[in-house]
Amino acid sequence: MRVLITGGAGFIGSHIAEALLREGLEVAVLDNLSTGKRENVPPGVPFYQVDLRDGEGVERVFREFRPTHVSHQAAQASVKVSVEDPLLDFAVNLVGGMNLLEACRRHGVEKLVFASTGGAIYGEVPEGEAAEETWPPRPKSPYAASKAAFEGYLSAYGQNYGLRWVSLRYGNVYGPRQDPHGEAGVVAIFAERVLKGEPVTLYARRTPGDEGCVRDYVYVGDVAEAHTLALLSLEGVYNVGTGEGHTTLEVLKAVAEAALKTPEVVHAPPRPGDLERSVLSPLKLMAHGWRPRVGFREGIRLTVEHFRGR
Ligand SMILES: NC(=O)c1ccc[n+]([C@@H]2O[C@H](COP(=O)([O-])OP(=O)(O)OC[C@H]3O[C@@H](n4cnc5c(N)ncnc54)[C@H](O)[C@@H]3O)[C@@H](O)[C@H]2O)c1
Repeated sequence: MRVLITGGAGFIGSHIAEALLREGLEVAVLDNLSTGKRENVPPGVPFYQVDLRDGEGVERVFREFRPTHVSHQAAQASVKVSVEDPLLDFAVNLVGGMNLLEACRRHGVEKLVFASTGGAIYGEVPEGEAAEETWPPRPKSPYAASKAAFEGYLSAYGQNYGLRWVSLRYGNVYGPRQDPHGEAGVVAIFAERVLKGEPVTLYARRTPGDEGCVRDYVYVGDVAEAHTLALLSLEGVYNVGTGEGHTTLEVLKAVAEAALKTPEVVHAPPRPGDLERSVLSPLKLMAHGWRPRVGFREGIRLTVEHFRGR
């Protein structure tokens, strides 16, 4: 199995690369380094600095590496950027995505595993419930719309050209190597700021001073394991979450505890486009033997340790 990982210089893609290497698979990375870092790519792994929007560049990578499988992690991954610049989101996630799918078709790639979003695709998840894969997509942002549309193309490529595919709808993924300077990644942002003794901003769920939005936080190592399982034996759509919701304040308390610090908190109004509550049911994936192995507190401790060591 020869696996091309798009976005393999990024946070999740680099953990996937390590997990696949541990399985003894051959791996290469395609990434334009817009948010990723060259040093995230494991040593010895062929690296192609190519933008997905460059169809000829993508074709060259396929001709050279000849992947049998593709892990598609590269994306314009910010909800906020997608709301500000929907055309940019469209160009990267859908035009770039189509360049990739067409290269898969021309080169007879057997299977593609896609990084979709459970955190944004279902819209608001009512109190006490966890979104299941059978719920219809209700995208609120252009980002979520592009992920839902790409899943539609996967279905079409599966039916017309025989491409096998899996769409993994991630919850809020966190862990070592997450970029604390991006839009997402509250755990990374809190970890870095709290360790430095800087004040942190807590965006409200409804009114400044409340506990903040509820999210399903899933550890990056568990996502990488789900990914290996998907490449080897799954078909279709799966949530990758824990079924548990945590507020932003709970995240902050866990980070502060792990960092042994008492941060100064700035309470801010809700951010436009943010969902109030998102929790995913992981039962479909668990029926295939996957388990979230790293619990919330342990995962946060590991993340804080990573940032402390930097
Ligand atoms: N982090 C999360 O909580 C989360 C949740 C749901 C879905 N996802 C999805 O998982 C995937 C990985 O996200 P991440 O958190 O690791 O983000 P990341 O920004 O660390 O990784 C994305 C990678 O894609 C690369 N990239 C971006 N545009 C590109 C382009 N045009 N051509 C080639 N490479 C390009 C970036 O340089 C980066 O290395 C994304 O598809 C994202 O939408 C992430």
